[in-house]
Amino acid sequence: MNVGIDQISFYVPQMYLDMIDLAQARNVDPNKYLIGIGQEKMAINPQSQDIITLGANAAEKILTAQDKEQIDLVIVGTESSIDESKASAVILHRLLGIQPYARAIEVKEACYAGTAALQMAVNHVRLHPESKALVIATDIARYGLNSGGEPTQGAGAVAMLITKEPRILVIEEKTLALTKDVYDFWRPTNQKYPLVDGPLSNSTYINAFSDVFTAYNQKYQQSLTDYKALLFHIPYTKMGRKALNHLLENVDEAIAKEFIDNYELSIRYSRQIGNLYTGSLYLGLISYLDHVATLKPEDTIGLFSYGSGMVGEFFQAHVVEGYQKHLHTTQNQETLNKRHRLTFAEYETCLNEHLDPSIDQVFTDETRFSIEKVENHIRYYKK
Ligand code: CAA
Repeated sequence: MNVGIDQISFYVPQMYLDMIDLAQARNVDPNKYLIGIGQEKMAINPQSQDIITLGANAAEKILTAQDKEQIDLVIVGTESSIDESKASAVILHRLLGIQPYARAIEVKEACYAGTAALQMAVNHVRLHPESKALVIATDIARYGLNSGGEPTQGAGAVAMLITKEPRILVIEEKTLALTKDVYDFWRPTNQKYPLVDGPLSNSTYINAFSDVFTAYNQKYQQSLTDYKALLFHIPYTKMGRKALNHLLENVDEAIAKEFIDNYELSIRYSRQIGNLYTGSLYLGLISYLDHVATLKPEDTIGLFSYGSGMVGEFFQAHVVEGYQKHLHTTQNQETLNKRHRLTFAEYETCLNEHLDPSIDQVFTDETRFSIEKVENHIRYYKK
């Protein structure tokens, strides 16, 4: 039995900062951001959107009434949790109208949590083929004004419906994870922003990919040319490219070019959005599927997930015949094109405003799901 992604969609806030505006304000050569980091635009969320509404807006696009009756597992992967105890999945379960006899949990391990959620959901459906599982990877990636990580911020969510005999992508059982206790990026409880050792995070990412990719191929007796494309966690678009370049150092030029060309297709959306943390690998997957010329079911796609701290995982997948009919390519492009470009001053205001649950607040927002008000530490959402 095949199990995998039956439906997939993303949602990003409807505002962005142009990286040239950030470069000018920070007195940096714009090419550092455009070429060195590889980002053109950075999604910024309004105060009326949090990880719950981002996730709900992503999931609502793909769920039918029948799906909502069949889903019995909702897993949210996030590192921007709004509560130390209550899982955001419980609120999402209600907002999305999913039938009551379901598990709803939130999982954490930095940006890897989206993959942890996906693999748990896939295993659940393998065990219970009549079930459907909803995976939501949702985050607000913020490092703060004038911080080292400032040009690598972003926000948004990816939602995936996991079923048997999926219509888009089969997730194969072959997988290998790697765990190492490293302090490259972490956010102690009650810290607003993460603590980051940028150079260490870059090298840990590259070494983790190199290690797990080599071990995976040894374990399953595969090699580079068994893959059509390699997709990466994309904290900024240059990062995956660095890991790929490292891998391709001594590889035949024509083979290397094909991997680089496919990688370029996978970063088109991320260049316009920035880091989604848990959703980044899956935004890259959507971008790749939306832009690649038709894939065949026998084409193997390798996926590298990375979460600082750190856990990495390499696994593989292949498309299902006719998968293109189930993508939302035009809608995805429109979503990005209709966003509002913030002035630098507006961006600074957004970053300075932090939703303070201890203060009663009321919000106005025309987006489908948004925060309506916060009262007595409870967030109220409207549809
Ligand atoms: N034109 C073209 N390129 C230029 C340039 C110019 N004018 N000026 C600089 N560059 C290049 C540099 O040569 C460098 O390229 P290489 O990396 O290929 O050497 C690149 O721009 C970046 O320059 P710096 O290294 O000097 O940049 P920085 O000191 O500002 O730090 C960063 C960059 C480490 C990514 C920092 O933004 C950061 O800490 N970001 C957050 C952490 C992060 O995203 N780490 C990634 C791995 S961790 C992870 O993946 C988990 C996660 O999601 C956070």
